[in-house]
Amino acid sequence: MKRLTFVAAGLSLALALIPTLSRAEEGPEPLSFREDVGNLPSVQRGARDFMAYCSGCHAMKYLRYNRMGTDLGIPDDLLKANLMLGTDKVGDPIPSSMPAKQAESWFGRVPPDLTLETKARGSAWVFSYLQSFYLDDKRPLGVNNPYLPGVSMPAVLGELQGWQKLAAPEKGEAEGAPKFELVQAGSMTPEEYKAFVTDLTNFMAYASEPGKSERIALGGKVMLYLLVLLVLTYFLKKEFWRDIH
Ligand code: HEC
Repeated sequence: MKRLTFVAAGLSLALALIPTLSRAEEGPEPLSFREDVGNLPSVQRGARDFMAYCSGCHAMKYLRYNRMGTDLGIPDDLLKANLMLGTDKVGDPIPSSMPAKQAESWFGRVPPDLTLETKARGSAWVFSYLQSFYLDDKRPLGVNNPYLPGVSMPAVLGELQGWQKLAAPEKGEAEGAPKFELVQAGSMTPEEYKAFVTDLTNFMAYASEPGKSERIALGGKVMLYLLVLLVLTYFLKKEFWRDIH
């Protein structure tokens, strides 16, 4: 029995370590980020911005327009007029407008599908990646990114964020998220840009699990139900045992 407990403890420790190990190789530490898929206006703005700035290259083939419309409270006509750029059927998944062959020859890599991106990399990683493009004249596109060294995605948000260069870490400074120096301001202030990227990341987190905020709300109700049931069963037990003691 003792041995079994020991094996079980060892196994659960090993399982607990797996995510840490696989994360460790992902490059620099991401910025801290708290995703909030329950923040509907933020997710809506993120959806609008994703369609405008990202869906030209990236698809979300596991998310259908009408599912998104229902979850985000966007009626079909608004959906069609503003968000659906690649198709006119609301039951279609979100396509990328770029043919894979061309993408391959332009960027050397087909832009990956982003439906499950925040699950694969973590939302803090995505939040950090989108803020960390910096000027690097050794790269063909003139930019690089510490979170994806040798990145083949252009800095599509450069006009909004502005252009930055990598700041050398100061001596004795603890290693953490990389630091940058803005060399040319963009159309947004740093705070506005951060809010913009927060919305985008929240939308991507929503897309990776559309039922999440529903699940959280349901979880609360289930706990309440169980609590009420606990009180009732307690009194029932007292009632059953009353004559026996
Ligand atoms: C001009 C085409 C293009 C546009 C527009 C574009 N991307 Fe990309 N993206 C790429 C390519 C190409 C890659 C692959 C980069 C690589 O692996 O080096 C990529 C990679 C990524 C990755 C990392 C994927 C991974 O895990 O390896 C994320 C996240 C991402 N893009 C998010 C976005 C977001 C959000 C937007 C909109 C703001 C966007 N992209 C707009 C071309 C594009």
